[in-house]
Amino acid sequence: MKRLGCFQLSQEAVERLAANYETPLLVLSLNQIEKNYRFLQEHLPQVKLHYAMKANPHARILERLSELGSSFDVASDGEIRTLAEMGISGDRLIYANPIKTERGFKACRDTGVHKFTFDSFSEVDKLAKACPGATVLLRLRIDNAQAHVDLNKKFGAPRENAIALLQAAQAAGLNAAGIAFHVGSQTVCSDPYLRALDITKELFDEARAVGLNLTTLDIGGGFPIPESKVKFNLSEMLQQIAARLEEDFADVDIWAEPGRYMCGTAVNLITSVIGINERNGQTWYFLDDGIYGTFSGVIFDQWDFKLISFKKGKRHQATFAGPSCDSLDIMFRGKMTVPLEVGDILLVPACGAYTSASATTFNGFHKAQIVIWEEVAQELGLEEKLAAAV
Ligand SMILES: Cc1ncc(COP(=O)(O)O)c(C=O)c1O
Repeated sequence: MKRLGCFQLSQEAVERLAANYETPLLVLSLNQIEKNYRFLQEHLPQVKLHYAMKANPHARILERLSELGSSFDVASDGEIRTLAEMGISGDRLIYANPIKTERGFKACRDTGVHKFTFDSFSEVDKLAKACPGATVLLRLRIDNAQAHVDLNKKFGAPRENAIALLQAAQAAGLNAAGIAFHVGSQTVCSDPYLRALDITKELFDEARAVGLNLTTLDIGGGFPIPESKVKFNLSEMLQQIAARLEEDFADVDIWAEPGRYMCGTAVNLITSVIGINERNGQTWYFLDDGIYGTFSGVIFDQWDFKLISFKKGKRHQATFAGPSCDSLDIMFRGKMTVPLEVGDILLVPACGAYTSASATTFNGFHKAQIVIWEEVAQELGLEEKLAAAV
């Protein structure tokens, strides 16, 4: 099995960075972003990758991916305009939010975005009026209860409505070009993708039979990053998906919308213990980053982050809370840790996806500063190898 190689700072790097910058500090490796992009492209060679920028819209990530030739999945006028301001052509974007806004449509007209997904008759009318002749993909519902985040609870047309929706789009003067799906975020095996491809293949055949010429398939995002609870083999999973695409969709334009995979492993958080309390027999550690900051992923992404201390000691269960004066600001209960003191530093690896993207400044706390690893390593005279690929 090919190892994925995640960006993880060493103890020396963490200590030097914490001494030179204030915590909480997010350290982003652009080399890891590039590695992730290349890994997906190598394993899915026939697929045009559209980075789902909602996962982490940091300008340097967008810039690096743009340089590598990535296209982008956007969901709002803000995302469209951010990319336009960076000089990225609207032609490289898909507006993949099945429910679009007037402001979103205006941004599309202003910047040349002409590819969309939809999953309702109402959206066909909106699209035909706002962007006549646009290329549209029907977003299909794919049930996958095992996904870490099941997007199909909110989006996707049922299979039985698919052909009627595509026909309605074509009749409204749109270019009904294909089908899109998203099997759910952090999907750890190929089965849901293969099931979705089975249904899509049938729909392509049914569409042909009613005179629709479908040319495009968008397999969405969902590709997983390593986590402690579930083991998986991503190379094998991607090989199975690529083989099926080759077999059943050889003449079709294939797109994907990876978010988490592209950025999740490229960021480490360095956070400090700022307070300790004993409450009802439990030790509580208060950190300088919390639910309203980088750990927003605990709520919005239901993610369980790994906390690494470089101290030794007998491990015990503790509660970890954030710095705000709000009782919701508790990240973990019963988390195993060595005993910690005020001023101790913790490393949180793999926290690039759905973290800083949804952080706030609630209660007057700053968002964690973000630095680029390859630049700060040079500045501090740290060898880049102090970030291990684990
Ligand atoms: C339409 C769409 N595409 C792509 C993504 C990215 O998914 P992931 O981060 O699981 O790759 C999302 C995430 O919610 C999405 O809604």
